Amino acid sequence: MLDRQAISRIVRHVGADILAHGHMQLEREAYQHGAVTTYEHSVRVAELAVWLADRLHLWHRVDLRSLVRAALLHDYFLYDWHERGDGSHRLHGFRHPARAERNARADFDLNDVEADSIRRHMFPLTPIPPRYLEGVLVNVADKISATAETLSPQRFSRHRSGSRR
Ligand SMILES: [Fe+2]
Ligand SMILES: [Fe+2]
Repeated sequence: MLDRQAISRIVRHVGADILAHGHMQLEREAYQHGAVTTYEHSVRVAELAVWLADRLHLWHRVDLRSLVRAALLHDYFLYDWHERGDGSHRLHGFRHPARAERNARADFDLNDVEADSIRRHMFPLTPIPPRYLEGVLVNVADKISATAETLSPQRFSRHRSGSRR
């Protein structure tokens, strides 16, 4: 069984090229849930997805590299969805998976598993479920992470510290 440190090392090693990309650095500036940046959220989703695959003994059916890459890129939409004054952020939940996939394809070579997992990660908000087990793990890890981040007391700290911008 993999411990937290091992999982963190795996994600940083397998996802090294993605994490180092200039566009990923934009995600460090964009807040996702509460005080958590999209970058932090994406790393957490990747770590949790690897943890789930490990604890559920799925390695005979899951490609580790595709799982980590899909998780790191699942929210690669590259804008701050809270800051659109025109109301288009209301549609963010529906539209950002396709946007993330398009951006990810522009910057990286995606295989089918990675592309499908990114595109379907908002199921059931979007109607088509992930086709691959890797996508199911990203979907579940994303929902767990988003809920934990939204409910975390940490979300209130950014207003006090003024670190948002
Ligand atoms: Fe998302
Ligand atoms: Fe997400």
